[in-house]
Amino acid sequence: MTTVNTEKLSSARFAEATDAFVEEFTASVGFDQRMAQQDIQGSLAHAAMLNKIGILTEQELADIQRGLAQISAEIERGEFVWSIKQEDVHMNIEARLTDLIGIAGKKLHTGRSRNDQVATDIRLYLRDDIAAILLQLKRLQTALLDKAEQEADTIMPGFTHLQVAQPVTFGHHLMAWFEMLCRDRERLQDCLKRINVMPLGAAALAGTSYPIDRHMTAELLGFSRPSNNSLDSVSDRDFAIEFTAAGSLIMMHLSRFSEELVLWASAQFDFIDIPDAFCTGSSIMPQKKNPDVPELVRGKSGRVAGHLVSLLMLMKSQPLAYNKDNQEDKEPLFDTADTLINCLRAFADMMPHVKAKRENMYNSAKRGFATATDLADYLVRKGMAFRDAHEVVGLAVRLGLESGRDLSELTLNELQGFSSSIGDDVFDILQLEGSVAARKHIGGTAPAQVRKAIAEARQRIGGD
Ligand code: ARG
Repeated sequence: MTTVNTEKLSSARFAEATDAFVEEFTASVGFDQRMAQQDIQGSLAHAAMLNKIGILTEQELADIQRGLAQISAEIERGEFVWSIKQEDVHMNIEARLTDLIGIAGKKLHTGRSRNDQVATDIRLYLRDDIAAILLQLKRLQTALLDKAEQEADTIMPGFTHLQVAQPVTFGHHLMAWFEMLCRDRERLQDCLKRINVMPLGAAALAGTSYPIDRHMTAELLGFSRPSNNSLDSVSDRDFAIEFTAAGSLIMMHLSRFSEELVLWASAQFDFIDIPDAFCTGSSIMPQKKNPDVPELVRGKSGRVAGHLVSLLMLMKSQPLAYNKDNQEDKEPLFDTADTLINCLRAFADMMPHVKAKRENMYNSAKRGFATATDLADYLVRKGMAFRDAHEVVGLAVRLGLESGRDLSELTLNELQGFSSSIGDDVFDILQLEGSVAARKHIGGTAPAQVRKAIAEARQRIGGD
């Protein structure tokens, strides 16, 4: 005797029930239920279009709208019963709709497949997530601009190879972070253009024989246009890979940012204070205050880079068109978005309260012979060839090291011992203030230039 599996929407063709483990193994409802509201949004647009082309009556459309509104409310209230018997978010909602409104529920899937449905849902979902990410990104950027304004005159050592190189202003350093985030924002906005194209209408892979109006659905859902090719629409996830790549770059930037905060909060640097609210103590060492937030953000950058690689691998061997492999795209995507929103939020909340220890920064710049290049440039202006000047300054630094003094603390006599062209105007440029003030070109570290950069940056992010 043949048993007919009547529980599954799509299964009349099956003579045997699905193996219990396979049912669990293939189900995605455990994680794709996060796209429920997007799924409903897509179904409402699809139903309105089916009504317009005469496939659904006014009454059927009204029933579908009422049923979906109830389902949406049930989900919001946490009352909706998700079942792995219905495999995924799409079939769960459709089954419940049919329970609620009967025959009209069964008509909703006309001219549509879960393949174009899921591709649409992910795009709608990512669109919302990108908006949330951009919001946090802007909050962080604004916090950086405010902090840069407060610290435009603060002098700190600039590093190469993590060795003191030349003095910079802390405002300038903060603006470097700001610039990285600007490019991150542009990348997300650019990726959004390709996400915001509508796959609905591609159906399973070949389109549909119904006279669908894809422009109408695209407009109802706020997509810029319907996609061009049905096979491509249901199969490629390049937009998701792009999003994860943009996300990986954001996390890479936040991780570098974190690394600096962690170093600077250490007793060895002692450049900043991270407020207690963003740190924890140690269960054994009473003196400890650990910079947990930046450490965790640095750690989380790894998982997002991992998601990028996993999506690339997911895609790379798939023949056209849809394959079940693609069900694996959701967890990395959701986790990428969650991680980005949370990390950016933590940084945006924390940054306004990070305090610069200005004196420590200043003294550290002084200890590192940070104005050695300025002295070489001074000698060049007095007519010496740069390589000779480099040599002379090296000797002066050695004297400073031996006697425990900065270049600005050597006497004029001592300095003139290295080159007779040194005059007492040399002390202006040996001062850290003079060194930074001289770098007043576009992109330079001079306080006046940093203020200009901040003003320009405020305009740049103001608009969107
Ligand atoms: N849960 C599936 C996914 O996430 C939906 C599409 C299923 N399509 C199919 N033909 N089995 O990709």
